[in-house]
Amino acid sequence: RKKVTLQTLQSMYKKGEPITMLTAYDFPSAHVADHAGMDIILVGDSLAMVSMGLEDTSEVSMEEMIFAARSAARATKSSFLVGDLPMGSYEISPEQALASSIHMIKTGRTHAIKLEGGASLAPTISKITSAGIPVLGHIGLTPQRQNSLGGFRVQGKTTAGAMALLEDAFAVQDAGAFGVVLEAIPPQIAEIITRKLRIPTIGIGAGASCSGQVLVQTDMLGNFPPGRYLPKFVKRFGDVWAESLKGIEAYGEEVKNRTYPAKEHTYDVKDEVVANFEK
Ligand code: KIV
Ligand code: NA
Repeated sequence: RKKVTLQTLQSMYKKGEPITMLTAYDFPSAHVADHAGMDIILVGDSLAMVSMGLEDTSEVSMEEMIFAARSAARATKSSFLVGDLPMGSYEISPEQALASSIHMIKTGRTHAIKLEGGASLAPTISKITSAGIPVLGHIGLTPQRQNSLGGFRVQGKTTAGAMALLEDAFAVQDAGAFGVVLEAIPPQIAEIITRKLRIPTIGIGAGASCSGQVLVQTDMLGNFPPGRYLPKFVKRFGDVWAESLKGIEAYGEEVKNRTYPAKEHTYDVKDEVVANFEK
């Protein structure tokens, strides 16, 4: 497969071909996403929740994101790789955001960065894109701001809310972002925003009219214990947890009853060596 570049994404957008995006957090999860032909792989700060077991994304550090990004980058051969800037690494000033973006690109080895926020982040997005670093925006439900949003709630449900979202979308676009993630927005609102923009929208809980879709790999593969809360927009395309449980239980049983390891899993040695050794 040919390398996906910004130009590839732009031509997909122009042709109306949906853009596929999925998160990854390490070498194996990026490897399989790349192999499956995902157009974009996102090293998301959802890492905090699905891979570190934290309550929300606020605690994950820049260095933890860089560690994940570097691991994912080694497995990413053709997908376009985007790294999330974690909370605290970009809000203080455009200069701080640029420094964090450069760190993500140079050390995390991603092709682009993503940050959360709309109109108020426009000067920051301009600063980063002026340095030649592609930026993916993220508006609507912005999990890093869940405390001020009053939790993980649907956005744009009122006329004023929808207007504010459109303003955010335009601001992010005009600041030079190559695309924008729309999270947890009614589909009709996301469709209108998508129609009004000239950059692709990547939806998560925003309906089928977006220019592309993104999901958290751990969620869509069912790689978590049964009973975990999942947002309404997640569809389970796999049952990795059950598959892992089955394999590990079988291994445990075979160790207990000594059927593993069998002869084919062991190394040969000459009988006389053993005989001499035993003496
Ligand atoms: O961190 C993440 O996984 C994300 C996507 C869900 C858009 O930001
Ligand atoms: Na994120």
